[in-house]
Amino acid sequence: MKRNSGIESRRKNRPSKAPPPPPCVMVIFGGGGDLVKRKLVPALYYLSLSGLLPERFAVVGVGGDDHTSESYREYLDSEIGNMVSGELSQEVWKNIERRIHFLRADFRDQESYGDLRALIEKVDEQEGTGGNVLFYLATPPAFFAEIPARLAEEGLTAEEGGRWRRVIVEKPFGRDLQSARDLNGALLKSLGEEQIYRIDHYLGKETVQNIVAYRFANSTTEPLWNRQYIDHVQITVAESLGVEGRAGYYDQAGALRDMISNHLLVLLGIVAMEPPTSLDADAVRLEGVRLMRSIKPIADEEVPAVAVRGQYGEGKGADGAILPAYRDEPGVAPGSVTETYAAVRLMIDNWRWTGVPFTLRTGKRLARRRTEIAVVYKRPPLAMFRGSTVETLPPNVLVLRIQPDEGIEFGFGAKVPGAHMGLDSVEMDFCYEDYFGDAPSTGYETLIYECMCGDATLFRQSVGVEGGWKVVQPILDAWSAEPPKDFPNYAAGSDGPAAAALLAGDGRRWRPI
Ligand code: BG6
Repeated sequence: MKRNSGIESRRKNRPSKAPPPPPCVMVIFGGGGDLVKRKLVPALYYLSLSGLLPERFAVVGVGGDDHTSESYREYLDSEIGNMVSGELSQEVWKNIERRIHFLRADFRDQESYGDLRALIEKVDEQEGTGGNVLFYLATPPAFFAEIPARLAEEGLTAEEGGRWRRVIVEKPFGRDLQSARDLNGALLKSLGEEQIYRIDHYLGKETVQNIVAYRFANSTTEPLWNRQYIDHVQITVAESLGVEGRAGYYDQAGALRDMISNHLLVLLGIVAMEPPTSLDADAVRLEGVRLMRSIKPIADEEVPAVAVRGQYGEGKGADGAILPAYRDEPGVAPGSVTETYAAVRLMIDNWRWTGVPFTLRTGKRLARRRTEIAVVYKRPPLAMFRGSTVETLPPNVLVLRIQPDEGIEFGFGAKVPGAHMGLDSVEMDFCYEDYFGDAPSTGYETLIYECMCGDATLFRQSVGVEGGWKVVQPILDAWSAEPPKDFPNYAAGSDGPAAAALLAGDGRRWRPI
């Protein structure tokens, strides 16, 4: 939605000031998968458009698919036009395409890694990439520990003579605290912590990074960013889509594992952390970890009062079309008790936030797609309005809109024109697109770029990932011990289960989705 349509886009003619990263080969395990064609290759295209792909660069897709390098290039060429917005620049794309290779491989077979070493050496010599390799694990999680171990055995993870070797690990990073610890332990046998880049694609979103700028680059924000002025914070990641062909994974995971243990806690971390001493990776991540440690642990008996789960039944979409129940989606077990909605109330025990509830909610097949953080301020005293027609004062609400319709709005009370003192809530609204234009992205560009540059600020450390699992583990345990009896408990296309209303607590209300 374009709100301030009179404002000209100021982004045009504003080339990126960042330098291109050093030369490298990007090896993508799971090269035939969905993520590669939908996100990673389009991200490389967008990076190239902004001049942020290394001049000396190559891609090697690795997978069990029946491809040669030539057929792999043809396959990506047939997909790319549908995956990027706007008209595809053939010049930019062809320049990437010609440097794409494919290796048919069995991830469990050491011989394949010998073939990979030979291919990397060949490509490295051809393109002059200086021996630098970025390995991207876009595979099922079962391979996350094995691939680095086999790479190490083949000598492919060794950093010698100034060359670097880095590994991006996709999510899900474990399925609970113990498995995340095991995975971290296994990775650290083959790699140094500084070689491991654990991805959470929410950290790559421009609007998520802008939260840091909004909080710390404006002197009006921070003085009020604490328990004295803020009543509560609502973090919402609502999706209108269902499981979209990923039932095999999702039915084993559920909303708490899939979204809250990582993406929503990442958002909470950025909103609530203390100011880091600099934008340095160590400084920022240290504050993230401190914050995670300040979250009050949930006692087993508290779970029913602080966590709500739901699963969608049949309902109607915004266009009136019937949407099937989760249990009727292809690939979902008929009596599945997997939650497609989860809401949690967390408290942070530190000087800044004691007493301020942070409510987090996420779900599939909700009324619409909307990711936002709403900071609800305390109401001012009503005293001076007594005797007027004003009976309640609406609180100020600051909404950081992450997606779609990216922006920031601030709601405040204003006098309704007229002879009497009447108040209404009005909004000031900043819309990204109006100021900076429409910059298409997949959300992976910055992450890939930063990894190539060796900057881990936007990636998660082992302690951060484990911290996230620690927060949700009591809920995972309680929910698995007691299967839900009321599923499905919300209609597809609605705002989620009625029980979630209670979580907002003490007369507070969730914002409508
Ligand atoms: C993924 C989850 O990590 O994030 C998906 O596995 C979810 O279930 C997706 O749909 C949401 O990401 P985005 O960027 O569309 O908000």
